[in-house]
Amino acid sequence: MSGPLKVPLLIFTGFIIAQVLNRTNLVSQITFFLRASKTALSPGDDREKRLLDHVVSTTPAGDAFAVVQAIDDYAWSKEWFMNVGDQKGKILDEAVHNASKSTPGPLSVLELGTYCAYSAIRTIAHAPKGTHLYTLEVVEKTADIAERMIAHAGLQQQITVLRGPLEDLIHQDPLRSLPPFDVVFIDHNKRYYVSDLKLLMKAGKLREGSVVVGDNLLIPGVPEYIEYMNSPEGKEAFDTAFHDAKLEYTWAPTSWGFADQVGVSVFKGPTSMS
Ligand SMILES: *[C@@H]1O[C@H](CO)[C@@H](O)[C@H](O)[C@H]1NC(C)=O
Ligand SMILES: *[C@@H]1O[C@H](CO)[C@@H](O)[C@H](O)[C@H]1NC(C)=O
Repeated sequence: MSGPLKVPLLIFTGFIIAQVLNRTNLVSQITFFLRASKTALSPGDDREKRLLDHVVSTTPAGDAFAVVQAIDDYAWSKEWFMNVGDQKGKILDEAVHNASKSTPGPLSVLELGTYCAYSAIRTIAHAPKGTHLYTLEVVEKTADIAERMIAHAGLQQQITVLRGPLEDLIHQDPLRSLPPFDVVFIDHNKRYYVSDLKLLMKAGKLREGSVVVGDNLLIPGVPEYIEYMNSPEGKEAFDTAFHDAKLEYTWAPTSWGFADQVGVSVFKGPTSMS
């Protein structure tokens, strides 16, 4: 390469790389993780509000599938979000589908960690008619966004957002008086996966055949949950399959450290140890 061409070529290449990084959500993903590492994955800036605005302005009211699609499009191309996402979402869809094969009719679903209601809306969109989903969110601002997202999707009758930690809400209605859930999706603060699972078992909120889905087992990672499911105690209570997956909304290959796992555990019924 001759001398005078080098500098413009470098600038041009830099520009292209910057554009690619910006178009894919890599910049947003990196800044999110830098921020998240300080604030323990708490929502912070107004990204959730921008997502809601995007969905409301680009999708017709009452179309749950369009809402799910619009969230995926936005998260792939603009800003990264910690939704379960379109790829791992398929594992969740399949777990719900499997549950509905063994439990005909509407399902009763519990979700820990609403965030922007992506998985709640996705689950209802894929579940049998009449299914009801209760979802717990501890961050008020996020719960507000989620309720507006759910209203836009037209699912207020099927999804109930409950505000607070399971530890408190399990002792209050509606959770206290609800029968055991058919499906439980655990996707909240990683510190509470195992303790909340045990809380549900103790409170009789799982029955033989209940399906428990755990997200993010490898990234950010919940080693305690994997350990529990692989322990004699966990194996006595659950039949678990770990499904290989990739961190949501990332173009980077799993070999770069983006491998994730979703656990699907079928409850075998109350045991001597639970
Ligand atoms: C990056 O993308 C966003 C949204 O797609 C756009 O508003 C912004 O101007 C872009 N930044 C650069 C430096 O190109
Ligand atoms: C659904 O059931 C099929 C058949 O038993 C099984 O192979 C598959 O792994 C299950 N999927 C999930 C996500 O649990």
